[in-house]
Amino acid sequence: MNNNIRNEFPALKDKKVIYFDSACTTLKPYRVIEAMNEYYSFSGCHKRGSHSFSRKTTEAYEKGRDKVRKFINAGSPAEIIFTKNTTEAINLISYSFPFKKNDIVLTTNIEHNSNFLPWMRLASGKEIIHKILPVNNNLTFDLDILENVLKNNKITLISILHTSNLTGATFPVKEIISLAHRYGAQVLLDGAQSVTHHKIDIQNLDADFFVFSAHKIFGPPGVGILYGKKHLLENLAPFIVGGETAEDVNNIDFVISPLPDKFEAGIQNYPGVTGFSEAINFIENIGIEKIHQHVTGLNRYLTQKMSQENIEIIGPKDAELRGNIFNFICPKFDSIQLAQIIDEANNIMVRAGVHCVHSWFNQEHKSASARISFQVYNTREEIDIFYETFKKIMQYY
Ligand SMILES: Cc1ncc(COP(=O)(O)O)c(C=O)c1O
Repeated sequence: MNNNIRNEFPALKDKKVIYFDSACTTLKPYRVIEAMNEYYSFSGCHKRGSHSFSRKTTEAYEKGRDKVRKFINAGSPAEIIFTKNTTEAINLISYSFPFKKNDIVLTTNIEHNSNFLPWMRLASGKEIIHKILPVNNNLTFDLDILENVLKNNKITLISILHTSNLTGATFPVKEIISLAHRYGAQVLLDGAQSVTHHKIDIQNLDADFFVFSAHKIFGPPGVGILYGKKHLLENLAPFIVGGETAEDVNNIDFVISPLPDKFEAGIQNYPGVTGFSEAINFIENIGIEKIHQHVTGLNRYLTQKMSQENIEIIGPKDAELRGNIFNFICPKFDSIQLAQIIDEANNIMVRAGVHCVHSWFNQEHKSASARISFQVYNTREEIDIFYETFKKIMQYY
């Protein structure tokens, strides 16, 4: 990867910081910030006016929608609903899906809270049954266990990770979706981590719903999407109603707008969508395959170095299977304290804690782990600095 890429990020340009927390959120390049600022040079509301600022807003907003559509190869812009983030998109489904009493929603036992709590909430109100599928010991997915569950239960919706924020491992989603459909279940994929370095072809995957946030792919926080197959979205009730969600209203009733307006109530995050769109341009200029090779190459390099150390890697041992994530527990050291010392010693930012997967940490009686996650701007030199710092800490304490 070209080292100049660091200069495209204000957080890195001429600065001595090592940012290893891109699975939480990526840094933003100048071009994304500038694209967002462009909106503030005029301001307007989309679809709500015939004047030029309004038209300009509508054009940028709908261009953004089509950019996202192409990015994941969806068939129609009507299938792209802008949301606040992944979390809101999953909540939208949990509120709007036409569940019947005792319908079963299946998740794994390593989901992010955003794909766990919405189902727990419904289950605690007895609106659905939330069933939890255990993954393998190395936290990879077992298709046989899934098939067994599908054979013995009528599952309505499988809502699962595409790529895990705990391990970086990607589930065999094409096989999962095809199995699910064979047994009449629909599938919602949490793509928050997969979009960061995998090419998504939603029509090829045949996922029923797909969700992700712009901030994980160099875009701004506060905007994400829900993709849904058109006929399924048409069948969902709106989640929040208000401006733009109704075509006509009288004192008694209202007519719901067609897709995608039906789900986009109120003024939307226009600068966010413009930034999102520019973030996709940024990725496409580099090439998602190149990003994938770069981050997995860094993970191999770090894994090989850390193989000398007394640590437990969360997830598969093989770096190739862990994409851009190296999540570990050092028995000698509290992970949160370790992250603080590493930061103080050399401005190295790693994430420590339970990574919003409290349920798995509780199940395993583990308190926390330290997670390193890579993106295009990271280098082998940074890994060398991290490793030397880590070794010194281990020797010193
Ligand atoms: C796998 C996964 N799902 C969902 C989320 C939630 O994303 P957001 O906070 O952008 O809604 C995250 C964020 O870290 C994630 O990693």
